[in-house]
Amino acid sequence: MTKLHEPGVRTLIKWATCYLKSKKIDSPRLTAELIAEKIIGRKRVWFYIGSEISVDKKKASLFKREIRRRARGVPLAYITGEQQFMGYKFFIPPGVYIPRADTEVVVEKCIEILNRIANHHSPIVIDLGTGSGSIAVSIAKKIKNAFVYAIDISSLAIKVAKYNAKSNKVQKRIEFLLGDLFLPLEFKNLENRVDLIVSNPPYIERKQMRFLPPEVKKEPDFALNGGKEGLNFYKRIIPESLKWLKKGGNLVLEIGYNQADKVKKIVETKKNLFTPVQIINDLNGNPRVVVTSKK
Ligand SMILES: C[S@@+](CC[C@H](N)C(=O)[O-])C[C@H]1O[C@@H](n2cnc3c(N)ncnc32)[C@H](O)[C@@H]1O
Repeated sequence: MTKLHEPGVRTLIKWATCYLKSKKIDSPRLTAELIAEKIIGRKRVWFYIGSEISVDKKKASLFKREIRRRARGVPLAYITGEQQFMGYKFFIPPGVYIPRADTEVVVEKCIEILNRIANHHSPIVIDLGTGSGSIAVSIAKKIKNAFVYAIDISSLAIKVAKYNAKSNKVQKRIEFLLGDLFLPLEFKNLENRVDLIVSNPPYIERKQMRFLPPEVKKEPDFALNGGKEGLNFYKRIIPESLKWLKKGGNLVLEIGYNQADKVKKIVETKKNLFTPVQIINDLNGNPRVVVTSKK
């Protein structure tokens, strides 16, 4: 019930929808409802069942503030603090890369490969640049006997990924390591033993960084910037993966929409050591995943 002088949630959502629409924000109503859910602490279905829910002044002004932040280009995930990925909930604070739907194609390929292996033995997986842990956690959820080593150079990402592994109840099957790509794996005795290496590395060309949409610019530079041609990480990961993969072990890499040929060429510099490259498209029909395996 609305109290005198206190706005109702439906009124606030109506105002926010118009405001976000005028600022050309995608899905304005859904955005307003998700921010309201977070601040009011009730599932949005309750906003429309029964009589109007009143919102005290403090919460109403907090709601308006968050709506304005969204209008200024702060990503929704950084406001609500969460993002769904592969049907699981991930905590995502500012400073950590927000998992994208396109990366689900990468995970689905990993699951397909690992399902075959998991019938024979417990697969060992490496996730390079784990960020929020989205790929590592999803693999551990789907492949019940997999063990994942998940690495990131950002200590905040590692803290957040550990939290996400715990909240999704897979913390016992993921070891999180802080450091530069394969470096933290030294002394883990994993050489020639790994079934699958997966990575969604930073791959944006340095000169494109300043043309990114304002929302994306709010994400950390070190999670996006792939150097001069956007290929720095592939040039390191592809040759270094040979040390860790077992014979027949798979390498699954997310790539930018225009990088398939360039990344394929990097694999082909080690032609005798890798099987021919397979390219998989995302849901928009753009090349998104490079798959190869160690001969
Ligand atoms: C594009 S994000 C991908 C995050 C996550 N895997 C996902 O798909 O949602 C790239 C990640 O690589 C990490 N990273 C950047 N440089 C790295 C390095 N040298 N070694 C390990 N991780 C690195 C960043 O901190 C960031 O979390």
